[in-house]
Amino acid sequence: MTDSATAVAHANIALAKYWGKRDEALALPATSSLSLTLDAFHATTTVTPDPDAGEDTGTLDGRPMSDGEVVRVRRFLDLVRSLAGSSLHASVDSVSTVPTGAGLASSASGFAALAGAAAAAYGLDLDPRALSRLARRGSGSAARSVFGGLVVWHAGTDDASSFAEPVPGGEAGGPLDPAMAVVVLDAGPKSISSREAMRRTVETSPFFPSWTESTEVDVALMLDAVRAGDLPTLGALAESNALRMHATMLGARPPVRYWTAHTVGVLDQVQALRADGLPCWATIDAGPNVKVLCAGRDLPAVAEALSEGGTRRVVTARPGPDLRVTAGG
Ligand code: DP6
Repeated sequence: MTDSATAVAHANIALAKYWGKRDEALALPATSSLSLTLDAFHATTTVTPDPDAGEDTGTLDGRPMSDGEVVRVRRFLDLVRSLAGSSLHASVDSVSTVPTGAGLASSASGFAALAGAAAAAYGLDLDPRALSRLARRGSGSAARSVFGGLVVWHAGTDDASSFAEPVPGGEAGGPLDPAMAVVVLDAGPKSISSREAMRRTVETSPFFPSWTESTEVDVALMLDAVRAGDLPTLGALAESNALRMHATMLGARPPVRYWTAHTVGVLDQVQALRADGLPCWATIDAGPNVKVLCAGRDLPAVAEALSEGGTRRVVTARPGPDLRVTAGG
């Protein structure tokens, strides 16, 4: 029970987005969502329960966690402790290859790894679905990082029914062969957290009801496209879903805008690449960066075109693996 445990989880990028909660306390989303777990970015987290510790402590990439970060980790550990019937505090040490806070889904891999490591360290025996539900309580999108490849997160109506599961067909080299070029325009922290921006959108955007309705339809159509091995349909749906999410937040009061002029420039480039016969589709999260979906065989050409002669950082990614607990527990 006091052994430490380590877990590794990979980042995911949503093709049908999660944007808005129906229940903040339980982290129940307003809609289902669909994502691709990426091999290029991951978090490795070690949880060490300590009978002598008077409080939870933590480090992130070797530096002490900020007060806000510790509060969020402590709340999550409180949940794990209540499930495990433990009162032990712990140290949490996490190292991430995802730039934090830049809309590159660092909280997804971070909280999925924390869920895996904390569950093992506190002796909880959870199956992947239960781990996904637990990770969801740390950060919604973390529910999806428990699984590799393509993943659907069912919105559900309560804690038990809101979980993610893998969608067959997302394997590298399969008929769909999904891959992503991540154009890193700004790896700095964002102006407003996705949590806060999401809340504001739910409360003030007149577009929010139609966002939730249309996203449920998108998820169903995307699952059809995956079953049919139809990447162009999946890509077109993903691009329109992302643009609609940003339109919905632009409708909030005050408006939420993560795009910069460079973001729009990449959208133009993606459109031009398609017109030139290179199929690829853009998606954007809570930051200025653009992630470009394409077939694995087209990834080198897409990445090369977007890097503008090597002057811009483009990270190439293929489908990543499931969460794995590597030590301890
Ligand atoms: C734009 O999962 O970070 O990346 O549940 O409040 O922690 P919280 O939000 P978070 O939001 C992710 C938003 C998104 C879309 C997505 O990943 O589906």
